[in-house]
Amino acid sequence: MLKTAVKAAKEAGEIIIKSMENRKMIGHKSAVNILTDTDLKAEKKILSIIKKRFPTHGFLTEEGLSKKTTSDHLWVIDPLDGTTNFFFSFPHFSVSIAHLFKGEVDLGVVYDPVRKELFHAEKGKGAFLNNKRIAISDTTKLSDALLISGFAYERGEIMKKNLENIEKIFNAGAQGIRRTGSAALDLCYVASGRVDSFWESGLRPWDIAAGSLIVTEAGGKMTGIKGEKYHLMTVDIIASNSKIHDQMLKILR
Ligand code: IPD
Ligand code: CA
Ligand code: CA
Repeated sequence: MLKTAVKAAKEAGEIIIKSMENRKMIGHKSAVNILTDTDLKAEKKILSIIKKRFPTHGFLTEEGLSKKTTSDHLWVIDPLDGTTNFFFSFPHFSVSIAHLFKGEVDLGVVYDPVRKELFHAEKGKGAFLNNKRIAISDTTKLSDALLISGFAYERGEIMKKNLENIEKIFNAGAQGIRRTGSAALDLCYVASGRVDSFWESGLRPWDIAAGSLIVTEAGGKMTGIKGEKYHLMTVDIIASNSKIHDQMLKILR
């Protein structure tokens, strides 16, 4: 399964890089949520590779190009995480592929085709970047931490709450807050110790399923924003190196 997911992520990544020069906007999913022809091309490629190998499996994908959605084996896929970045030629986006068995993520692959960085994890086997083991940071104080947040496409209550949270985190003395534009990679950056925590509200299952396992397999913690156990439908999340998790929860919940 890992081999198939890696092949699919890399081939989709190649499509994305090749189409940067002549990408086409197809429309908006909502006022500020761009859809390009590349999102669809990448998803078609991933589905064709996985379906060929696992014809009975189910799929939950952002662009919804597969009809089969139920099975003990479910693939949760974002063919292009960071479409806004991609559309503006801001070189930071990824392909995110997770496999769940009976509702539990047991495989996660996130590929950054710009840096050729492939993050992966299998349940119980650790987390890796280009096949080298990765681990979370050892920062213990929020005031020593570098963090990432994200802004949902929604510009109402979720945005308002998050702007308040950003102010609170700065007031707690954090070293900095970044907004990168690919939630899947944000999780991998927590997993690899490049940042200490990531939080965002209003995400979708395909943004985070793969990254959630990469975080926990790297020794990190992943919960809902109120501290509840993460599951596929959790949309408001905190991921961290686990050591500053409670400090984040206290401010954000
Ligand atoms: C988006 C990215 C972004 C996050 C948004 C997501 P998309 O995914 O992950 O970082 O802030 O909430 O929707 O639409 O580019 O696949
Ligand atoms: Ca996404
Ligand atoms: Ca996407």
